[in-house]
Amino acid sequence: MSTLLVTGGAGFIGSNFVHLLVERTEHRVVVLDKLTYAGSYASLADLPPDRVCFVRGDICDASLVNDLVAVADAIVHFAAESHNDNSLANPRPFVETNIVGTYTLLEAARKHGTRFHHVSTDEVYGDLELDDPERFTETTPYHPSSPYSSTKAGSDLLVRAWVRSFGLRATISNCSNNYGPYQHVEKFIPRQITNVIDGVRPRLYGRGLNVRDWIHTEDHSAAVLTILERGAVGETYLIGADGERSNRDVVRTILEIMGEPADAYEHVADRPGHDLRYAIDSTKLRTELGWAPQYPDFRAGLEATVRWYRDNEPWWRPQKAAAEAKYARTGH
Ligand code: NAD
Ligand code: DAU
Repeated sequence: MSTLLVTGGAGFIGSNFVHLLVERTEHRVVVLDKLTYAGSYASLADLPPDRVCFVRGDICDASLVNDLVAVADAIVHFAAESHNDNSLANPRPFVETNIVGTYTLLEAARKHGTRFHHVSTDEVYGDLELDDPERFTETTPYHPSSPYSSTKAGSDLLVRAWVRSFGLRATISNCSNNYGPYQHVEKFIPRQITNVIDGVRPRLYGRGLNVRDWIHTEDHSAAVLTILERGAVGETYLIGADGERSNRDVVRTILEIMGEPADAYEHVADRPGHDLRYAIDSTKLRTELGWAPQYPDFRAGLEATVRWYRDNEPWWRPQKAAAEAKYARTGH
């Protein structure tokens, strides 16, 4: 049994990862989370206090980070500003948290010789044409588009430099679009589900032809745990579950599941610089570490996600009005 420091553990993917750790391992977990608008302590509230300890704080706070890293056997770093639309409106917090925050954690990990896993995104590779037969691999050149993805790319490069220059025992994973429980209602799938619950038509940016490569968040968590346990230090692993769908297909499926006409959606202004398509080739993770997704049926995963948002309105309701007010200001 060891102690894992999980940054961003009150966010969407981080909280799902902490649930998985409690269910599948014996590790003790220390969550460090600032509880920004995107973090929710309620996402962790049902977990046993003898296994999970919550610390509210900022990953840019070097003194706090040093104290927590000193007693950790490994760090799993999820904390980030994560939403592309927010990064277009105000990039500064993205530079601070994603770059300076990651730097702060790396310096503490270097000082204490702590194993480090950095959670990143496929968006660092930019986008693909709709008809491109290629998918992203670990050797695809970095070509990020937005302030969000460029700060994530910067954080990846910092991790690589700390491995090479200081011998840090680090791994990196770059994952595609996650869906599942505890995702903030600003994001595409929960926004549309909660809109339908509220009697509001889903909103598609532009023509809705952009493609995302969906993975259930529990599959992402299991992949991160696999890399933490068996990944080779210094290596990058891409995580994906062959889940490519156009945004229009996803909205139509949500509407069908929720008993509405499949075309009951609106087109709204497109996102500036909107990446066209992401697609992950996760062969390395599957062949070298033996990981495989357990939720390959996207429609079934979406049905379970719709049920979760119907059953957990007290969790998401407090976020909804503020998220929609933000979208109203940008014509989305
Ligand atoms: P999220 O926005 O839901 O959660 C982020 C969490 O980080 C929140 O709890 C927030 O309070 C916390 N946080 C933000 N700034 C902080 C700071 N300065 N100090 C401490 N905590 C801070 O994000 P998510 O969707 O769960 O993404 C988690 C990680 O996974 C991010 O690094 C993201 O880049 C990466 N990722 C996300 C996806 C996806 O589809 N959502 C896909 C691939 C990779
Ligand atoms: O690929 C991994 C990335 O996936 C992560 O790194 C990011 O943290 C995560 O937010 C996600 O980024 P996207 O920009 O792809 O996700 P988002 O949910 O914002 O949008 C998904 C797609 O849906 C995108 O093409 C924009 C579109 N969209 C989004 C919203 C909110 C709509 O058409 N309508 C909407 O209302």
